[in-house]
Amino acid sequence: MAAPKKKLYLRTFGCQMNVADSQLMAQVLAPEYELTPDPEEADLYLINTCAIRKKSEHKVLSLLGSLRALKRRRPHLIVGVGGCVAQQEGERLLAAVPHLDLVFGTHGVWRLPELVRQARGRRTVDVDLREGYAPLRREWPAGVIQGYVTIMQGCDNFCTFCVVPYVRGREVSRPPAEIEAEVRDFLAAGGKEITLLGQNVNSYGRGLPEPVTFRQLLDRLAALPGLARLRFATSHPKDLSEDLIAAFGELPPLCEHLHLPAQSGSDRILTAMNRGYTRKEYLEKVARLRRACPGIALSTDLIVGFPGETEADFEATLELVREAGFEAAFSFKYSPRPRTRAADFPDQVPEEVKSDRLARLQALLGDLTLAAHRWLVGRVGEVLVEGESKRGGELSGRLRTNQVVNFAGPRHLVGKLAQVEITEAYAHSLKGRWVREA
Ligand code: 5AD
Ligand code: SF4
Repeated sequence: MAAPKKKLYLRTFGCQMNVADSQLMAQVLAPEYELTPDPEEADLYLINTCAIRKKSEHKVLSLLGSLRALKRRRPHLIVGVGGCVAQQEGERLLAAVPHLDLVFGTHGVWRLPELVRQARGRRTVDVDLREGYAPLRREWPAGVIQGYVTIMQGCDNFCTFCVVPYVRGREVSRPPAEIEAEVRDFLAAGGKEITLLGQNVNSYGRGLPEPVTFRQLLDRLAALPGLARLRFATSHPKDLSEDLIAAFGELPPLCEHLHLPAQSGSDRILTAMNRGYTRKEYLEKVARLRRACPGIALSTDLIVGFPGETEADFEATLELVREAGFEAAFSFKYSPRPRTRAADFPDQVPEEVKSDRLARLQALLGDLTLAAHRWLVGRVGEVLVEGESKRGGELSGRLRTNQVVNFAGPRHLVGKLAQVEITEAYAHSLKGRWVREA
């Protein structure tokens, strides 16, 4: 008989790409380890980390610190750190944290079983980016509803604030046939909604032996029978092409939502960020998107307090937000990151000024999101039911335009599309009433 499996506790920080990578970690370790929700019974404790801002990095370091006691109680426990902070810090992390056994970078996921074995004997570091990223073929559990498929890795844009090109390496696209096979497997397992992931999906296909564009990949996947919904993230405004904009009116599974990070509304700051577009160009793309697909919901990312940002620059961001009329947004205080150019720029903005601007921006964004939510009240929309709501007792899912809807309904709706009338609008979600199965 096979030996009972050891227990893996896996904690994930950061973006959807990290969530997808964590699922791969669990998959490659599955012959030896099964997931546990309880860290107290873990034989292997892995943290998949995010380095995008100082705050994200800080969360990882404080969690790691708190593991010293667990490791004392369970001396055989292997503690490993992977992902972006691991890639960034490498050896330094081992030196700083005596109870840490393993550091593996963003490209080391497929080597994990071997690395864990090695870490049982001696402390191990593997942060080699040169070997390239080897995305493994995903296996989908029966009953899967929503899935992430990584279509490319890395980024060559070098926005001056961003650590991603350093911790995820150069841009590499996966061949379309591999992606299609993974989506076919997903559909065969009963899956409904796919989100394609890459740091800059609009430049998908560059460097592949057979020439292929992102729009062509979308066409190919949208034609697969059984795919109810298709999404993707993240798009860079400078590369958002006409044929991609047109896709929103043309491909039935493609959901009416686009995340299009603006970062700033000031041309001076956009140039200093090396973003490659002006405020006017950004707003023109927004207008074209709304023309091609009148119901589209747009979300964005914004940074306040980038080095040199004046009050006038910041007000230009507020103005851009009002003009674009985003349905949702994420906003952040600029955080200097190691090796990035902006970290060495003069005129770093004082912390109090950043906090003040963030509060003003978030007040405006909160009003806009709530207004977009209120507009939906009384309308009926299609919800893909993903499970029970966080507070329990209700079902929870998303509209095609990406807003979260909670509503009372029978459990057999989980994994299905349902027509739901929106009855109440909140800051971060909607409440609805079940009308019928779609
Ligand atoms: N400081 C603050 N925000 C950042 N982002 C990326 N790098 C930084 C940084 N150094 C934000 C950007 C990006 C999102 C994922 O995180 O807005 O779009
Ligand atoms: Fe970072 Fe810019 Fe690349 Fe996005 S496009 S991952 S912000 S460098």
